[in-house]
Amino acid sequence: MTEMTDGVLHTLFRSEQGGHEQVVLCQDRASGLKAVIAIHSTALGPALGGTRFHAYASDEEAVLDALNLSRGMSYKNALAGLDLGGGKAVIIGDPDVLKSEELLLAYGRFVESLGGRYVTACDVGTYVADMDVVARETRWATGRSPENGGAGDSSVLTAFGVFQGMRASAQHLWGDPTLRGRKVAVAGVGKVGHYLVEHLLEDGAEVVITDVREESLRRVLDKHPQVTAVADTDALIRTEGLDIYAPCALGGALNDESVPALTAKVVCGAANNQLAHPGVEKDLADRGILYAPDYVVNAGGVIQVADELRGFDFDRCKAKATKIFDTTLEIFARAKADGIPPAAAADRIAEQRMADARAAKAAKGSAPAL
Ligand SMILES: NC(=O)c1ccc[n+]([C@@H]2O[C@H](COP(=O)([O-])OP(=O)(O)OC[C@H]3O[C@@H](n4cnc5c(N)ncnc54)[C@H](O)[C@@H]3O)[C@@H](O)[C@H]2O)c1
Repeated sequence: MTEMTDGVLHTLFRSEQGGHEQVVLCQDRASGLKAVIAIHSTALGPALGGTRFHAYASDEEAVLDALNLSRGMSYKNALAGLDLGGGKAVIIGDPDVLKSEELLLAYGRFVESLGGRYVTACDVGTYVADMDVVARETRWATGRSPENGGAGDSSVLTAFGVFQGMRASAQHLWGDPTLRGRKVAVAGVGKVGHYLVEHLLEDGAEVVITDVREESLRRVLDKHPQVTAVADTDALIRTEGLDIYAPCALGGALNDESVPALTAKVVCGAANNQLAHPGVEKDLADRGILYAPDYVVNAGGVIQVADELRGFDFDRCKAKATKIFDTTLEIFARAKADGIPPAAAADRIAEQRMADARAAKAAKGSAPAL
């Protein structure tokens, strides 16, 4: 057994991070499909999580990614208040080379074979158009286009949810949810970031942005000349007088270099996996910086794809995404009460919700028949 294979089995069966219910390895030689579907938990309901299409360095790395990502989805879905568990799939290979209709259809048949235990959606390397193809073979594909019964672009609600997380942060720290007069830095004004800027300006905040793509910057600056742009993220996080920093580009934004340099008092943004490694959440707390956990505040997108299962309704989704305000406040209160960073408090609350659901199921299962 290689060290890596042992690492996979360790994660799966022996580590505290494990506890996955089921891992399915899928292969369709005709189309070149090699996929891993990981179901971490169905305690709260069918396991929902996107399909990542990526050229992994090895098959073991792909399995580990599926294991880690699916676990993250259990926590995210639990805190979003969804009656859905956590799962994730990865398709192994370069999507630019390997992706074909035949492959996506074969993948759809594997998803269907799980009978609804796993519900898929878009992730890195898969798009709304791909889910439309997958959905030809399975009922259990969300993130489809509106023409195919889907909800389309999820970034509108993701931005709205992040805004709710920021309002909760302001309420916790300054006793008032308004962002009027607050100086907010947004790193990455792509699909989510540019909608977030709209909410902030509407609420009366002062906004500073950066982006590596000129088109992304121009779209915001042409529409809102009052917004200031700075050269890069390094300059952004050091901007004087910042109240809030919103990472809305890539993961790992909070690391050993950036955290000591932050001038903001709050971090709340859309990017996934902002904490570069375990321990960064404590570094933030030690500097007195309030961190709104990424997977809690960016749940607007998953709330939207989950709603597709019932027939998408924007207002219903928006009402659910508004609750991110209350959830974020609850996390800050729990963090204070338990003397732990908010990221750890969020995990505890999610674990409690899953444990309660498991206990309720067990009690129902063991109740005498009437
Ligand atoms: N779209 C959603 O519904 C959704 C849901 C949950 C989480 N997220 C996460 O939010 C983040 C943003 O998602 P998106 O859909 O807006 O993506 P996007 O690709 O549309 O936007 C990202 C923006 O960040 C910019 N960028 C990339 N590297 C940068 C850097 N080093 N410095 C500054 N800017 C940089 C890009 O040029 C782009 O404009 C991602 O981490 C994503 O995983 C998105």
